[in-house]
Amino acid sequence: MANDRPRVLSGIQPTSGSFHIGNYLGAVRQWVALQETHDAFYMVVDLHALTLPQDPKELRENTRLAAAQLLAAGLDPEHCTIFVQSHVPEHTQLTWLMECLTGFGEASRMTQFKDKAARQGNEHTSVGLFTYPMLMVSDILIYQADQVPVGEDQRQHIELARNLAERFNGRYGKTFTVPEPYILRETAKIFDLQEPTVKMSKSASSPKGIIDLLDDPKASAKKIKSAVTDTGSEIRFDRENKPGVSNLLTIHATLTDSTIAEVEQKYAGKGYGALKTDLAEIVSEWAAPFRDRTREFLDDPETLDSILAKGAEKARAVATETLTQAYDKVGLLPGKH
Ligand code: TYM
Repeated sequence: MANDRPRVLSGIQPTSGSFHIGNYLGAVRQWVALQETHDAFYMVVDLHALTLPQDPKELRENTRLAAAQLLAAGLDPEHCTIFVQSHVPEHTQLTWLMECLTGFGEASRMTQFKDKAARQGNEHTSVGLFTYPMLMVSDILIYQADQVPVGEDQRQHIELARNLAERFNGRYGKTFTVPEPYILRETAKIFDLQEPTVKMSKSASSPKGIIDLLDDPKASAKKIKSAVTDTGSEIRFDRENKPGVSNLLTIHATLTDSTIAEVEQKYAGKGYGALKTDLAEIVSEWAAPFRDRTREFLDDPETLDSILAKGAEKARAVATETLTQAYDKVGLLPGKH
């Protein structure tokens, strides 16, 4: 039974049209695997997207597009609960409790907030961006998640979720499961093709540095072929001295279900060009059916919306129960929340 299984929860923002290969290898690929062994909840976090300005029409389209990509990547509504964050209003209700439990200094130390705020300047930084981590904490705790499959950049937010769960439990009695990050070492951080020492990121990378999964294959091939590689010619995994080649090796190995050592061996004595040409082919072969399936889901918005509605209903059943307990624990009178 699904209920005897450990629970996982994760989310992805619908902020850009296409997921990039960092989203897929760092997170979504694990989500697909974990739905077979865990009681899995996955969501499109449209409320988090609002922390930066969004065009309403685009947000609507991108939310459906994100859901379609999750299904195309292999999430199966029979094996996991897939939903849209704003369809479960209990998340934002729990967020208030989490905000009241978090220190101002503690929230100010969140590095993603600091980075984004520094890029935008104070006047353009919303309070929502500041409280973003507490909404994320609520997303996790409201499902009593045991594990949270994400990329390395989310580790600090999960650490906050652990701290707040322990703080709440310590103050009011055991209420929340303390979640663990589920971060695979090899793919925890996929790097920008042009700047292979910084992470591939939809908000910070230049288009040439990102492999978008819905890109035209020719465009992706071009980006891979012009990826920055390192001095020397040997194809060897060495994050420090050969970050560019190491990044390409990681992508290659993961998409072909091989080990890095196997890929290194395959290219022993060959040049960077051979690795890049093959990788372009591998990515293109992987992405073609992904693109087709995404299109199919988008072409049938009724089915897509009904999958999301069913998912929200399942999610709400769990979320309401946790919220009721948490409200009671802190001393709010029972009523209609
Ligand atoms: P988001 O939408 O930025 O990214 C979605 C997932 O992709 C991972 N990721 C990467 N992994 C490896 N290499 C990269 N270059 C790379 N870029 C992105 C992210 O780590 C993430 O797992 N705050 C979250 C969304 C969220 C969430 C949650 C996650 C909201 N609530 C609750 C887990 C649990 C975010 O903005 O992810």
